[in-house]
Amino acid sequence: MPAKRPAKIISGPVVAESIRAELRDEIAALAKKGIQPGLAVVLVGSDPASEVYVRSKRKTCEELGIASFSHDLPATCTERKLLGLIAKLNADARVHGILVQMPLPKHIDEQRVLNAIDPAKDVDGFHPVSVGKLLNGEPTFASCTPAGCIELLLRSGYDPAGKHVVIVGRSNIVGKPLAAMLMQKGRGGNATVTVCHSRTKNLAAITKQADILIAAIGVPQFIKARMVKDGAVVIDVGVNRIADATKKSGTRLVGDVDFEPVRKKAKAITPVPGGVGPMTITMLMKNTVEAARRTGAKSGKKTA
Ligand SMILES: NC(=O)c1ccc[n+]([C@@H]2O[C@H](COP(=O)([O-])OP(=O)(O)OC[C@H]3O[C@@H](n4cnc5c(N)ncnc54)[C@H](OP(=O)(O)O)[C@@H]3O)[C@@H](O)[C@H]2O)c1
Repeated sequence: MPAKRPAKIISGPVVAESIRAELRDEIAALAKKGIQPGLAVVLVGSDPASEVYVRSKRKTCEELGIASFSHDLPATCTERKLLGLIAKLNADARVHGILVQMPLPKHIDEQRVLNAIDPAKDVDGFHPVSVGKLLNGEPTFASCTPAGCIELLLRSGYDPAGKHVVIVGRSNIVGKPLAAMLMQKGRGGNATVTVCHSRTKNLAAITKQADILIAAIGVPQFIKARMVKDGAVVIDVGVNRIADATKKSGTRLVGDVDFEPVRKKAKAITPVPGGVGPMTITMLMKNTVEAARRTGAKSGKKTA
């Protein structure tokens, strides 16, 4: 029997660049109408991973011509002070999108902070109004990582419509909104969705039924080849740092999927790094441009 070809690699940077090219055109069209999309990025404290994410978001804004407003607050910042800043950003016409980098220090109620963001500027898609609209199938800001997974699938030729998609993970930021998006009528939806989690029994029997398997677990290399159907498409959302003595840093990043063995079985797979990660930031930029377009339309400025 001829050896099976390893899975096609679905490249996050390549798909992200195709979306960024579209965004550059949209941003240029908005500029002609005197509108520059603006994103406020709020960082509280100095968590090293958060600092990396925030830097990357600000850099991408710069590359695309989106105005970036940086607000770095000390870890001792009070919830009241943070809510005061959000109120100011809500009222600032130059700011079309507001992103508060999570996690926040323990003394701040994250949900209260998210609830304070004007839903019209909720480019992360975490406000209850955005979540409710998503479930209702109304236009809203789709949260960035799930939306990124769906764009990766669509733009790589793997439309989820009619497919059995199994998601492992039910968090508010990935699993739940992803399930809601995939079950909607319309582009990127119409899938048959199964959501698994830590209480799921016979997990492997369910993941093996997936035409498209999406792992958002946070456990390094959890999805083994025996859990994957031959010819499945595998999207790995996980980002985990593990020890690796061969690296200068002593660590490396891996996903939630045991990449090499699963690659031999799957039809297509996203790597980590280089898969979902670049899509998350790109979808944030896309939402910010959309927010600018909507406010431009509301203020009577003609928009594309
Ligand atoms: N690339 C990106 O842009 C991006 C963005 C966000 C997150 N991530 C990564 O994605 C991963 C998931 O993030 P998250 O925020 O969704 O994590 P999370 O809030 O910790 O949720 C993890 C989910 O996995 C489930 N789970 C944990 N252990 C399991 C097991 N043994 N069997 C079955 N299900 C299990 C949990 O089930 P229960 O609900 O029952 O506890 C939970 O629903 C992390 O590695 C994170 O770093 C990446």
